[in-house]
Amino acid sequence: MSSATLTPPIHLPAIPPIIAPSVEEEVLEPGERAALLDRIRRLLKQQDAVLIAHYYTSADLQELAEDTGGCVADSLEMARFGHAHPARTLVVAGVRFMGETAKLLNPEKRVLMPDLHAECSLDLSCEPEAFSRFCDEHPERKVVVYSNTSARVKARADWVVTSGIAVRIVQHLHAQGDSLLWAPDRHLGAWVQSVTGADMLIWPGACVVHEAFRTQGLEALRAAHPEAAVLVHPESPAGVIAQADVVGSTTQLIQAVRNLPNPAFIVATDNGIFHKMRLAAPGKLLLEAPSAGTGATCKSCAHCPWMAMNGLRNLAQVLETGSNEIELDAELIPLARRPIQRMLDFAAAR
Ligand code: 13P
Ligand code: SF4
Repeated sequence: MSSATLTPPIHLPAIPPIIAPSVEEEVLEPGERAALLDRIRRLLKQQDAVLIAHYYTSADLQELAEDTGGCVADSLEMARFGHAHPARTLVVAGVRFMGETAKLLNPEKRVLMPDLHAECSLDLSCEPEAFSRFCDEHPERKVVVYSNTSARVKARADWVVTSGIAVRIVQHLHAQGDSLLWAPDRHLGAWVQSVTGADMLIWPGACVVHEAFRTQGLEALRAAHPEAAVLVHPESPAGVIAQADVVGSTTQLIQAVRNLPNPAFIVATDNGIFHKMRLAAPGKLLLEAPSAGTGATCKSCAHCPWMAMNGLRNLAQVLETGSNEIELDAELIPLARRPIQRMLDFAAAR
């Protein structure tokens, strides 16, 4: 009989079923669209407000954000921009964790969102109490959470990371000998683990949008377009990531379209990103990576239903009424802010 000590089996928590809402994209007549744009521009000035939008929101919101002195960015840059900007109101067009991050970093500011129901399947997959129990079961591990989590989950973490900085932070922790508990995205976690070699215990959450990209469909599309570079967001499954020429955050994927010489790109992330990619490389062919297909198993084929909740109508309304303000428990703020600040300090020092 072996005298080796047996490690007890690790029980991963069960993930609740995630129901992706079915959301109709906002459709506007030209007259209404122009009137809304004028109204929002005026309200942003009146309210000393700045619009911070994610790359997955509509082209109208992205252009409006940039034209009015706001920004369109990935989740890391959204957090940085809102923190550095002097406006007294931050309007975050994205999903709820992005609004919460803005509030955590700027508790003295008013943070509004066009729709407070704009959730994220990763955030929904990581219920704070279950997560806290999981952390309690593994006290020897440093806790690293993806930014796509609630403030309560962040409050339990040592580090917050976004996809743009996850590898560098995990490399740093691995080099200092830390073993890690990672949540909530298992695909991103597995990719970070494969790149860094870190010891990571991974929460089994997933993004409903990226999980729907298909390995075999991508193989077939690559065969039909051998000239195309494959760009993949790391929330995608391993079989999709394995075929990538570039794996990265939304900003890193847009930079790849700008910098690589290929005449065509196959893109495995939310198709809202195509707006910026077309501007970055006019004339290049941009193809959506195949997903499970409407009517088949994909819950949201290459477009995040929660991001689609942001529109010009609800943006104008929140600016007018001051509704949809992000409010967080005063006691929670310093706890959840600490691991985000750690990430921002790490990014600034390198
Ligand atoms: P980025 O940080 O790369 O913008 O990703 C956020 C996100 O939610 C991707 O699905
Ligand atoms: Fe969350 Fe996925 Fe939507 Fe990104 S695309 S906000 S990870 S549900």
